[in-house]
Amino acid sequence: MILLAPSILSANFARLGEDISQVEQAGADWLHIDVMDGHFVPNITIGPQVVKDLRAVSKLVFDVHLMIENPDEHIPAFAKAGADFITVHVETCRHLNRTINLIRENGCRPGVAINPATPVCLVEPCLADIDLVLVMSVNPGFGGQDFIPGAISKIEQLRKISEEMNKDLFIQVDGGINLETGRRVVQAGANVLVAGSFIFRSPDPTQAVADLKKAVAY
Ligand code: DX5
Ligand code: ZN
Repeated sequence: MILLAPSILSANFARLGEDISQVEQAGADWLHIDVMDGHFVPNITIGPQVVKDLRAVSKLVFDVHLMIENPDEHIPAFAKAGADFITVHVETCRHLNRTINLIRENGCRPGVAINPATPVCLVEPCLADIDLVLVMSVNPGFGGQDFIPGAISKIEQLRKISEEMNKDLFIQVDGGINLETGRRVVQAGANVLVAGSFIFRSPDPTQAVADLKKAVAY
Protein backbone atom coordinates (compact mmCIF):
# COMPACT_ATOMS: atom_id res chain seq x y z
CA MET A 1 0.00 0.00 0.00
CA ILE A 2 1.46 3.34 -1.08
CA LEU A 3 0.62 6.34 1.09
CA LEU A 4 0.26 9.87 -0.18
CA ALA A 5 1.27 12.84 1.97
CA PRO A 6 0.42 16.21 0.40
CA SER A 7 2.85 18.93 1.51
CA ILE A 8 1.10 22.11 2.62
CA LEU A 9 4.14 24.15 1.61
CA SER A 10 2.50 24.71 -1.78
CA ALA A 11 -1.00 25.33 -0.40
CA ASN A 12 -2.51 28.79 -0.11
CA PHE A 13 -1.75 29.88 3.45
CA ALA A 14 -4.68 32.31 3.40
CA ARG A 15 -7.04 29.35 3.16
CA LEU A 16 -5.02 26.54 4.65
CA GLY A 17 -7.94 24.81 6.38
CA GLU A 18 -9.95 24.61 3.15
CA ASP A 19 -6.98 23.38 1.11
CA ILE A 20 -6.33 20.63 3.66
CA SER A 21 -9.92 19.49 3.87
CA GLN A 22 -9.98 19.27 0.08
CA VAL A 23 -7.04 16.82 -0.06
CA GLU A 24 -8.36 14.97 2.99
CA GLN A 25 -11.65 14.35 1.22
CA ALA A 26 -9.80 13.43 -1.96
CA GLY A 27 -8.13 10.49 -0.18
CA ALA A 28 -4.80 11.80 1.07
CA ASP A 29 -3.34 9.55 3.77
CA TRP A 30 -1.06 11.88 5.69
CA LEU A 31 -0.46 15.62 5.84
CA HIS A 32 3.17 16.63 5.34
CA ILE A 33 4.03 19.78 7.30
CA ASP A 34 7.31 21.47 6.37
CA VAL A 35 8.94 23.42 9.19
CA MET A 36 11.85 25.66 8.12
CA ASP A 37 13.97 27.98 10.22
CA GLY A 38 15.94 30.15 7.78
CA HIS A 39 19.20 28.60 9.05
CA PHE A 40 19.33 24.95 8.05
CA VAL A 41 17.39 25.88 4.93
CA PRO A 42 17.08 29.30 3.28
CA ASN A 43 13.36 29.73 3.97
CA ILE A 44 11.06 30.20 6.96
CA THR A 45 7.66 28.56 7.25
CA ILE A 46 5.50 27.54 10.16
CA GLY A 47 5.67 26.90 13.90
CA PRO A 48 3.80 24.82 16.48
CA GLN A 49 0.83 27.19 16.74
CA VAL A 50 -0.15 26.52 13.13
CA VAL A 51 0.15 22.76 13.73
CA LYS A 52 -2.05 23.09 16.81
CA ASP A 53 -4.75 25.02 14.95
CA LEU A 54 -4.68 22.58 12.02
CA ARG A 55 -4.93 19.63 14.43
CA ALA A 56 -8.35 20.92 15.45
CA VAL A 57 -9.66 20.78 11.89
CA SER A 58 -8.03 17.66 10.38
CA LYS A 59 -8.00 13.96 11.18
CA LEU A 60 -5.07 13.19 8.86
CA VAL A 61 -1.83 11.76 10.22
CA PHE A 62 0.41 14.79 10.82
CA ASP A 63 3.84 14.16 9.36
CA VAL A 64 6.05 17.01 10.59
CA HIS A 65 9.30 17.48 8.66
CA LEU A 66 11.70 19.57 10.73
CA MET A 67 14.23 21.39 8.55
CA ILE A 68 15.66 23.27 11.51
CA GLU A 69 18.87 23.54 13.50
CA ASN A 70 18.72 22.33 17.11
CA PRO A 71 15.57 20.24 16.61
CA ASP A 72 15.71 18.96 20.22
CA GLU A 73 14.68 22.42 21.41
CA HIS A 74 11.45 22.32 19.43
CA ILE A 75 10.38 18.66 19.38
CA PRO A 76 8.28 18.88 22.59
CA ALA A 77 6.31 21.85 21.24
CA PHE A 78 5.51 20.14 17.92
CA ALA A 79 4.55 16.95 19.74
CA LYS A 80 2.23 18.87 22.04
CA ALA A 81 0.73 20.67 19.04
CA GLY A 82 -0.40 17.35 17.57
CA ALA A 83 2.35 15.86 15.42
CA ASP A 84 2.11 12.10 14.81
CA PHE A 85 5.44 11.63 13.05
CA ILE A 86 8.40 13.96 13.62
CA THR A 87 11.24 13.71 11.13
CA VAL A 88 14.62 15.35 11.75
CA HIS A 89 17.55 15.73 9.38
CA VAL A 90 20.62 13.66 10.12
CA GLU A 91 22.65 16.72 9.06
CA THR A 92 21.29 18.72 12.03
CA CYS A 93 21.68 16.11 14.79
CA ARG A 94 24.94 15.78 16.69
CA HIS A 95 23.44 13.07 18.89
CA LEU A 96 20.93 11.46 16.58
CA ASN A 97 20.06 8.56 18.87
CA ARG A 98 19.23 11.00 21.68
CA THR A 99 17.00 13.00 19.36
CA ILE A 100 15.17 9.86 18.22
CA ASN A 101 14.57 8.92 21.86
CA LEU A 102 13.30 12.42 22.58
CA ILE A 103 10.74 12.12 19.77
CA ARG A 104 9.45 8.83 21.23
CA GLU A 105 9.44 10.17 24.79
CA ASN A 106 7.18 12.92 23.51
CA GLY A 107 4.72 10.37 22.16
CA CYS A 108 5.55 10.68 18.45
CA ARG A 109 6.92 8.31 15.85
CA PRO A 110 10.48 9.19 14.79
CA GLY A 111 11.74 9.71 11.26
CA VAL A 112 15.17 10.66 9.93
CA ALA A 113 15.77 12.53 6.67
CA ILE A 114 18.83 12.60 4.43
CA ASN A 115 19.65 15.37 1.97
CA PRO A 116 20.52 14.59 -1.67
CA ALA A 117 24.25 14.74 -0.90
CA THR A 118 24.02 12.60 2.24
CA PRO A 119 24.66 8.85 1.89
CA VAL A 120 22.40 6.11 3.25
CA CYS A 121 25.19 4.82 5.52
CA LEU A 122 24.73 7.84 7.79
CA VAL A 123 21.20 6.80 8.67
CA GLU A 124 21.82 3.05 8.68
CA PRO A 125 22.96 2.74 12.33
CA CYS A 126 19.66 4.18 13.54
CA LEU A 127 17.25 2.33 11.23
CA ALA A 128 16.33 -0.16 13.97
CA ASP A 129 15.16 2.70 16.19
CA ILE A 130 13.02 4.68 13.77
CA ASP A 131 9.70 4.23 11.97
CA LEU A 132 10.42 6.33 8.89
CA VAL A 133 13.33 7.27 6.71
CA LEU A 134 12.97 10.26 4.40
CA VAL A 135 15.00 10.44 1.22
CA MET A 136 15.11 14.02 0.01
CA SER A 137 14.91 14.16 -3.77
CA VAL A 138 15.47 17.94 -3.86
CA ASN A 139 17.62 20.20 -1.73
CA PRO A 140 15.23 21.17 1.07
CA GLY A 141 13.88 24.69 1.32
CA PHE A 142 11.39 25.21 -1.46
CA GLY A 143 8.55 23.55 -3.31
CA GLY A 144 8.45 23.17 -7.07
CA GLN A 145 12.04 22.00 -7.67
CA ASP A 146 13.09 19.25 -10.06
CA PHE A 147 13.53 15.68 -8.84
CA ILE A 148 17.19 14.66 -8.33
CA PRO A 149 17.60 11.12 -9.76
CA GLY A 150 20.29 10.10 -7.25
CA ALA A 151 17.45 9.46 -4.80
CA ILE A 152 16.50 6.28 -6.68
CA SER A 153 19.53 4.21 -5.73
CA LYS A 154 19.26 5.40 -2.12
CA ILE A 155 15.64 4.20 -1.99
CA GLU A 156 16.73 0.85 -3.44
CA GLN A 157 19.44 0.52 -0.81
CA LEU A 158 17.01 1.34 2.00
CA ARG A 159 14.43 -1.12 0.68
CA LYS A 160 17.06 -3.86 0.60
CA ILE A 161 18.32 -3.07 4.11
CA SER A 162 14.81 -2.93 5.58
CA GLU A 163 13.98 -6.30 4.02
CA GLU A 164 17.18 -7.81 5.39
CA MET A 165 16.25 -6.43 8.81
CA ASN A 166 12.70 -7.70 8.34
CA LYS A 167 11.58 -4.28 9.39
CA ASP A 168 8.36 -2.54 8.54
CA LEU A 169 9.85 0.83 7.64
CA PHE A 170 8.17 3.78 5.99
CA ILE A 171 10.45 4.80 3.13
CA GLN A 172 9.36 8.30 2.23
CA VAL A 173 10.44 10.48 -0.68
CA ASP A 174 10.09 14.24 -0.77
CA GLY A 175 10.70 16.63 -3.65
CA GLY A 176 9.74 16.85 -7.29
CA ILE A 177 7.16 14.07 -7.11
CA ASN A 178 4.75 13.89 -10.03
CA LEU A 179 3.12 11.01 -11.94
CA GLU A 180 6.37 9.95 -13.58
CA THR A 181 8.80 10.35 -10.67
CA GLY A 182 6.15 8.94 -8.32
CA ARG A 183 6.10 5.72 -10.33
CA ARG A 184 9.90 5.54 -10.40
CA VAL A 185 10.34 5.94 -6.64
CA VAL A 186 7.63 3.39 -5.88
CA GLN A 187 9.30 0.92 -8.21
CA ALA A 188 12.54 1.54 -6.32
CA GLY A 189 10.82 0.69 -3.04
CA ALA A 190 9.33 3.87 -1.56
CA ASN A 191 5.99 3.56 0.21
CA VAL A 192 5.19 7.13 1.25
CA LEU A 193 5.16 9.92 -1.33
CA VAL A 194 5.24 13.57 -0.40
CA ALA A 195 3.87 15.88 -3.08
CA GLY A 196 3.48 19.63 -2.78
CA SER A 197 3.27 21.56 -6.02
CA PHE A 198 1.95 18.60 -8.02
CA ILE A 199 -1.15 18.66 -5.83
CA PHE A 200 -1.66 22.20 -4.57
CA ARG A 201 -0.45 24.04 -7.68
CA SER A 202 -2.59 21.92 -9.95
CA PRO A 203 -5.86 23.43 -11.21
CA ASP A 204 -7.73 20.58 -9.52
CA PRO A 205 -6.04 19.26 -6.34
CA THR A 206 -8.77 16.63 -5.86
CA GLN A 207 -8.01 15.18 -9.28
CA ALA A 208 -4.25 15.43 -8.67
CA VAL A 209 -4.57 13.30 -5.51
CA ALA A 210 -6.61 10.71 -7.41
CA ASP A 211 -4.21 10.70 -10.38
CA LEU A 212 -1.13 10.25 -8.21
CA LYS A 213 -2.69 7.48 -6.13
CA LYS A 214 -3.73 5.70 -9.31
CA ALA A 215 -0.33 6.13 -10.97
CA VAL A 216 1.51 4.44 -8.12
CA ALA A 217 -1.01 1.72 -7.23
CA TYR A 218 -0.08 -1.73 -8.42
C1 DX5 B 1 11.07 20.86 0.36
C2 DX5 B 1 9.99 20.29 1.22
C3 DX5 B 1 8.99 19.54 0.46
C4 DX5 B 1 8.24 20.36 -0.56
C5 DX5 B 1 8.06 19.46 -1.75
O1 DX5 B 1 12.07 21.33 1.17
O2 DX5 B 1 10.52 19.42 2.21
O3 DX5 B 1 8.07 18.85 1.31
O4 DX5 B 1 6.99 20.81 -0.16
O5 DX5 B 1 7.49 20.20 -2.77
P1 DX5 B 1 7.36 19.67 -4.25
O6 DX5 B 1 6.49 18.43 -4.18
O7 DX5 B 1 6.72 20.79 -4.97
O8 DX5 B 1 8.74 19.35 -4.71
ZN1 ZN C 1 9.11 18.08 3.32
